[in-house]
Amino acid sequence: MNIFVTGGAGYIGSHTCVALLEAGHSVVVADNLCNSKEETIDRIKEITGKDVVFYKADVTDEAAVDDIFSKHKIDGVIHFAGLKAVGESVEKPLEYYYNNLVATMVVSKVCKKYGVNKFVFSSSATVYGDNEVPFVETMKLLPTTNPYGETKAMSERILTDIAKANKDFSVALLRYFNPVGAHESGLIGEDPNGIPNNLMPFITKVAKGKLNKLRVFGNDYPTVDGTGVRDFIHVMDLAEGHVAALDKLTAGVHIYNLGTGQGTSVLQLLDAFERANNIKVPYEIVDRRPGDIATCYADATKARIELNWVAKRGIFEMCRDAWNFEKNQ
Ligand SMILES: NC(=O)c1ccc[n+]([C@@H]2O[C@H](COP(=O)([O-])OP(=O)(O)OC[C@H]3O[C@@H](n4cnc5c(N)ncnc54)[C@H](O)[C@@H]3O)[C@@H](O)[C@H]2O)c1
Repeated sequence: MNIFVTGGAGYIGSHTCVALLEAGHSVVVADNLCNSKEETIDRIKEITGKDVVFYKADVTDEAAVDDIFSKHKIDGVIHFAGLKAVGESVEKPLEYYYNNLVATMVVSKVCKKYGVNKFVFSSSATVYGDNEVPFVETMKLLPTTNPYGETKAMSERILTDIAKANKDFSVALLRYFNPVGAHESGLIGEDPNGIPNNLMPFITKVAKGKLNKLRVFGNDYPTVDGTGVRDFIHVMDLAEGHVAALDKLTAGVHIYNLGTGQGTSVLQLLDAFERANNIKVPYEIVDRRPGDIATCYADATKARIELNWVAKRGIFEMCRDAWNFEKNQ
């Protein structure tokens, strides 16, 4: 299939382009590069030895997206493009609602015009709110406490309503847990600007000496060691989950958790990183971060049964590959 990948120069999008190309699909990427670099597209080509059609385009711009669809026969879409920093979304709600919701609506509108009926959407475990673990797809969703999370919940509803009204439309809502790690080549990975919001790039930047201490937000949660527990998933496993979802997509709405089903605390991840890479990472405990929940991990049964997909890589590989990428920067 020829897949239109929005946000394909970003962290998860670039790894998914690699997985798509390796599975024999071709890709047309649109990214406005607001949180990524065009060089990543060359790295995808280098890893796979395949071509990537790239447009520097904003997917909230309907004319730009329409122009791409008019030039390429598109068979399906994976829509990653979006702003993703939880804290920033509280400071800049309008930017987040505008960018993330308009992007979802514009891309689905153009899909409708061109009769493209396969749509895979990047959702997040954040839509579960502070539910009981493990999170299961059938749970009633709880409020997410921040505009970013609301854009995911709202985009899910928009796509669900489109599928209800159009019986040919097929949509996979993929709820990601905590992607970490990098492609094993070390050529692509997560490289945020400034102080990272996510744990792993924070750890690797401290390990590299770019930041002096890891800040651990709270050690008084009701967890194994008081620090937050998350379901970390290797980004290449996550990428392969998209290929599996696309291959199995049938008309209607299909929701899948993409996680490992295992919870790991912040301090456990830090310990694993130090051991996997034989490097010390200084840290300090600071106050809890508003909006963070104590524990989050997936029930990943549905993806295993319906998509025949499971996360194969463990914490060791996640830590090794994240560091391998950072060392190359
Ligand atoms: N990384 C995570 O922990 C995580 C977890 C759950 C869900 N997600 C979602 O997965 C998707 C990809 O996340 P990521 O971690 O790869 O983030 P990322 O910032 O690395 O990638 C997003 C890409 O989208 C691009 N983009 C943003 N707005 C755009 C627009 N209007 N037009 C064109 N391009 C635009 C950015 O330049 C960037 O390259 C996002 O929708 C994110 O919300 C991420």
